[in-house]
Amino acid sequence: MAQLATKSEPITAKSYQHFEAAPQTGSFGALIKNIQVADAIENDELFADLYQAWLDYQVLFFRDQELSPGQHLKLGERFGEIQKPGYAPNLEGFEGVWVQEYPDLYDGIVADLDWHSDSSFREQPTRGSLLYALDVPVSGGDTVWSDMCAAYEDLAPPWKTMVDGLSAIHDNMTRNLFRALSRLSVEEFAKVREYLPPNEHPVVCTHPESGRKYLFVSELMTRDIAGMNDRESRAVLDFLFAHQTRPEYQCRFNWEPNSLVLWDNFSTLHRGIFDFGQSHRLMHRVSFNTPWKPA
Ligand code: SIN
Repeated sequence: MAQLATKSEPITAKSYQHFEAAPQTGSFGALIKNIQVADAIENDELFADLYQAWLDYQVLFFRDQELSPGQHLKLGERFGEIQKPGYAPNLEGFEGVWVQEYPDLYDGIVADLDWHSDSSFREQPTRGSLLYALDVPVSGGDTVWSDMCAAYEDLAPPWKTMVDGLSAIHDNMTRNLFRALSRLSVEEFAKVREYLPPNEHPVVCTHPESGRKYLFVSELMTRDIAGMNDRESRAVLDFLFAHQTRPEYQCRFNWEPNSLVLWDNFSTLHRGIFDFGQSHRLMHRVSFNTPWKPA
């Protein structure tokens, strides 16, 4: 029997009082036009509109934004508690603004070249992020997001029934284990494990605000399905990893200097495309947490 690639109708353009939102794919992502996001720091109505658009589209894209590091932090504070430690260094004088400067960043042991949701290995993973481009390569260096609500909704009913009852172990060492072992002493490794232990989360979560169900696994961070042996776990995860990143669920963004992206880190995965060799790429990121855990 012929199967539709996606079963949902495309997302429609929604109206907001303070800006225009142009949907970027069939299910998620919108380019927000005619605003300076920094104005939402003081303007409650604009912020409420922006927050609603974030819930509606999961990832919001903005061009030509003037955003100082101080404003970047203040904007993040409107969404949640700023996450201070991260995989990139903090900007001097602005704790919570991470400096993601490539290619240097990848001299370290952490690599996020695979699909992931940031810090899903934590008990309380990152709720969302604001990534701001300062310098970008002439070409390349895009970021791609994938919609985990659409990926869940498209599963056939027997798959939904099975994954609805599962939980998975998220582990920062899923892909980095051998690199970490080769670079760290036994004591250092033990410290990293103590500081960042694995955590278990449901494979299917319900979004705390939109109420939509979404898949919460990713190839970079998800190690096993709890309660399954290795072969069973691999079979389920390999299927989910391939399914959740099909092009139907993806939205790719080509950065320009002063572009900003706000994403929902619960209901989307993302992946940087590192196809720019030794070219310089400089991003500032502010990530935030809320009391919500994936559930
Ligand atoms: C990330 O994976 O968090 C980095 C995204 C990017 O720099 O494009």
